[in-house]
Amino acid sequence: MERTLVLVKPDGVQRGLIGEIITRFENRGLRLVAAKFMKVSPDLASKHYAVHKGKAFYDNLIQFITSAPPVMAMVWAGPDAIAAVRQTVGKTRGTEAAPGTIRHDYALQARYNLTHASDSPENAEAEIALWFLLMNWLTGNAALKNGCTNEPPMKTTSLQFTKPMED
Ligand code: CMP
Repeated sequence: MERTLVLVKPDGVQRGLIGEIITRFENRGLRLVAAKFMKVSPDLASKHYAVHKGKAFYDNLIQFITSAPPVMAMVWAGPDAIAAVRQTVGKTRGTEAAPGTIRHDYALQARYNLTHASDSPENAEAEIALWFLLMNWLTGNAALKNGCTNEPPMKTTSLQFTKPMED
């Protein structure tokens, strides 16, 4: 069982494609185990894209990912989730992505390619930790650990917090 981070970037949010993107992963049999909207800070963006620092497109990439509207960060789980998600997303440039992939069907430019998806188990865990560090709901953590398409839905009670909420 694997889990992976997916971002719907500002262009996907602005174009109203969140539902379409989620539907494609659900149709594949993957399971959404966490999701949240985030306005991305320059600090988070620079950590997430550290591997691209120094490349010609880096500054524009950081400017874009930190722009409004916000990003939707999600964790998807399932057998071979990392490969399945990247196959569903397609190659970086829409013009090089295979027909039927999200980027082929909805994107033309490398920068405005709608989604980000983790590329390895190590990067997936690091990216999930980076984007969901503050999520400490017990049910959320259980979902992150147990997300699986072949299991019955988890029995969850109401959301519990690790610390009592203050009035
Ligand atoms: P992503 O999967 O988020 O990982 C790195 C991102 O850099 C990539 O998607 C693209 O959005 C962006 N990118 C890669 N190559 C280029 C490029 N030549 N010009 C602009 N952006 C790029």
